[in-house]
Amino acid sequence: MAASSRSIAVFGAGYIGLVTAACFAQLGHRVTVRDIQPERIRLLQAGDIPIYEPGLGDMLAQNKERLTFTLDASEAVQEAEVAYICVDTPPTASGDADLSRIWAVIDTLRDASHLAAVVVKSTVPVGTGTRIRTALDEAGLHHVGYASNPEFTAEGRAVADFLHPDRIVIGTTDDATAALLTRLHTGIDGPVHTMDVASAEMVKLASNALLATKITFINEIATVCEATGADVTQVADAVGLDHRLGRHFLNAGLGYGGSCFPKDSRALRAMASNTGYSFQLLNSVIEVNDLQPRRAVQRLKNELGTLRNRRIALLGMTFKPGTDDMREAPSTVLASRLLAEGATLTCWDPMARPAPTEPWALAERHPTVVQALTGADAAVVVTEWPQLLDTDWNTARDLMRTPLLFDGRNMLDPAEFAQAGYTVMSIGRATARPC
Ligand code: UGA
Repeated sequence: MAASSRSIAVFGAGYIGLVTAACFAQLGHRVTVRDIQPERIRLLQAGDIPIYEPGLGDMLAQNKERLTFTLDASEAVQEAEVAYICVDTPPTASGDADLSRIWAVIDTLRDASHLAAVVVKSTVPVGTGTRIRTALDEAGLHHVGYASNPEFTAEGRAVADFLHPDRIVIGTTDDATAALLTRLHTGIDGPVHTMDVASAEMVKLASNALLATKITFINEIATVCEATGADVTQVADAVGLDHRLGRHFLNAGLGYGGSCFPKDSRALRAMASNTGYSFQLLNSVIEVNDLQPRRAVQRLKNELGTLRNRRIALLGMTFKPGTDDMREAPSTVLASRLLAEGATLTCWDPMARPAPTEPWALAERHPTVVQALTGADAAVVVTEWPQLLDTDWNTARDLMRTPLLFDGRNMLDPAEFAQAGYTVMSIGRATARPC
């Protein structure tokens, strides 16, 4: 139990809200989680979790006496000292972040004059905190502190990222709120950086944009490697040894996906555009990333002559391994493009829960990799699930119509697979042909 256990209300029972709630409960705080979706709350009250995130279920179970789940906003705040807002901020048609869920929470806090602080963890445009501060003041809550405390947790390792962060960013100019939030994080292994609200909001957007830029940069280098005969993996390994650059986020592939990089890079671009500034570098990052799965389809088409009536197996559907999240997954663009070219699709993924609409409604899903590969003219490694390394590729080769692999994540050894009779196309490396 933490030396000073606090009472916290967490608004939003999504990836961020549940991880925040579970980790604060683990630190000894009492947490009430409020969501507006009855089914989600019903599941949580019954001890189930509505999402897949490694370690989260165990942590919620271990701390269940300190966790409450409710649909009722007033119940969530009645005992709370701090209200954490962790609702989603999806993109609008203009690319701006939709803040309506945040404002809906702020509206429910107007009478919560006993709160010590309101904290936003959701990713928001710079300036949001100033507007919230004004709204709180107008509601007579001048004495309630406000802070931005952005999250830097990645899906699949969110619990570990929360408990062992590179940094905890606390954006507030109010010393009492900064001290309160610092105490709330006691027990977490990471340095606290306190700054003004706008800068904290920008740290989150800039971090994600820079990571997306790093991925895009190596994808661009990969394209040049393909044209010139260099090997992007060897290039990335050696470039990454420069400690000023680092090897992280230099894995070339089918482009970044997920609920964060695509949304946040567009939101930062929209935010800059709204001030009359065109963020040229980010424009290019977004455009290159959109092209990445399309380039793969074109390369497959060049190899096979046509994709019409070709049976293509997609191996992996989620935007990355270790999650069931399909949001902005490159696999969905790939599947749509392949269908548009007249291909038939089979697919395999151990966790994905795709929407039952096109393109996935038109793909045959199989429980094993080998079944998905049976009769295929080509297979595309879309998500680097470790199970792919344990697949019986010799059996698969004999069951495929053509042993052609497009390794969209550079996870397989091309020489080894060529030795086994496969043609292996990949990103930024020469195509390996059967020896
Ligand atoms: C990302 C950030 O890494 C977190 O720090 C941040 O808190 C989070 O967004 C967020 O804003 O909530 P996440 O989207 O869960 O986390 O996933 P990442 O592991 O960062 O991967 C994002 C995408 O980039 C994936 O599609 C992945 O396949 C791709 N990627 C990543 C590459 O193509 N190459 C790489 O070298 C690394």
